[in-house]
Amino acid sequence: MIVERNVPLQPHNSFGIVARAQHLLRVKSVADLEALHADANWREAPTFVLGGGSNVVLTGDVKPLVLKMEIAGRRLVEDTPRAWIVEVGAGELWHDTVAWLLDQGWPGLENMALIPGTVGGAPVQNIGAYGVELQDRFESLDAFDLQTGRRFTLDAAQCAFGYRDSVFKHAATGDNDFGLAGRAVITHVRLRLPKPWKPVLGYLDLARKMEETGARAPTPRQIFDWVCAIRQAKLPDWRVLGNAGSFFKNPTVTAEQCADIIARDPKIVHYPMPDGSIKLAAGWLIDACGWKGKTMGHAGVYEKQALVLVNRGGRAHPATGGEVMTLAKAIQTSVYERFGIRLEPEPVVV
Ligand code: EPU
Repeated sequence: MIVERNVPLQPHNSFGIVARAQHLLRVKSVADLEALHADANWREAPTFVLGGGSNVVLTGDVKPLVLKMEIAGRRLVEDTPRAWIVEVGAGELWHDTVAWLLDQGWPGLENMALIPGTVGGAPVQNIGAYGVELQDRFESLDAFDLQTGRRFTLDAAQCAFGYRDSVFKHAATGDNDFGLAGRAVITHVRLRLPKPWKPVLGYLDLARKMEETGARAPTPRQIFDWVCAIRQAKLPDWRVLGNAGSFFKNPTVTAEQCADIIARDPKIVHYPMPDGSIKLAAGWLIDACGWKGKTMGHAGVYEKQALVLVNRGGRAHPATGGEVMTLAKAIQTSVYERFGIRLEPEPVVV
């Protein structure tokens, strides 16, 4: 087992923040995790799992042992009349996997094209876009328990998926609590691609594309291309302008709270949820507070989407994690003062 020391993490986080891992282990197979558990020097060490680094803000050097997930491999494990089940290694890139599945003739993930990060990171925050979430295309996953050294499998219910949430985002606080943060490492994910394929076109941006192109029955490839075009027009490419996607979750309020806000701001973008609550567009709230395009230090708010915080210093003078968090806090304060709503960050702050 080779534990590297003092490893620069700037190439491994999409914000491009400068930080180092004091210790880093590249995990290329489950055997690497077994070796870690068998090593008395490392077994008890706190760990931090790093996938594509597309949803983290590094506020300093990382002291826990960084497990850099590099488990590769994609294979069809089941072909039933109702679905294709495909198993993917946690270290595979999400977007490349979506494109590869399409090439194989196993569509279903096209609405989630171009999401940065790895397949192993996808269940952690139940990634989603344009009307489809990971949980809609999920069969099961394999994980490794760093405390017991055992492998285990979870189905969707056991993952406790929520909006940008799962059991992997929470640490257990008591005996009856099943939080797995800091304890479990996802090694393989099995995706379920339902047959027959059905397009998901309810999202406004996609409905617009249908109208623009006049396509009545779009193919999976067309939807894939539309989603790529929509994202490229609205979201910055992290290789050019560092960012971690949406920085805050879209908040949920009661119908009464929403009615109050509408009375003051009739234009607020809001979506009724099946349980009667209302989801508000955080990007709209931030935009309404005048943040779009603003800069504080080397961190800024993207010009085309106020929900995305960006690193304006490039790779040479990058924003620090502290600068990003100072900006995030200033945004939270102004949204709270104007709307009485507390925005919750989406990325993991380390
Ligand atoms: N809006 C503004 N001003 C802005 C930004 C947005 O008025 O500066 C308005 C838009 O006009 C639109 C509404 O807010 O009416 C929602 O914006 P958008 O369609 O861009 O989606 P979002 O709610 O901001 C969510 C996800 C994205 C996902 C898109 C598409 C969250 C936190 N974000 O963004 O996910 O790609 O929907 O499904 O749920 C991510 O999680 O990192 C992410 C990029």
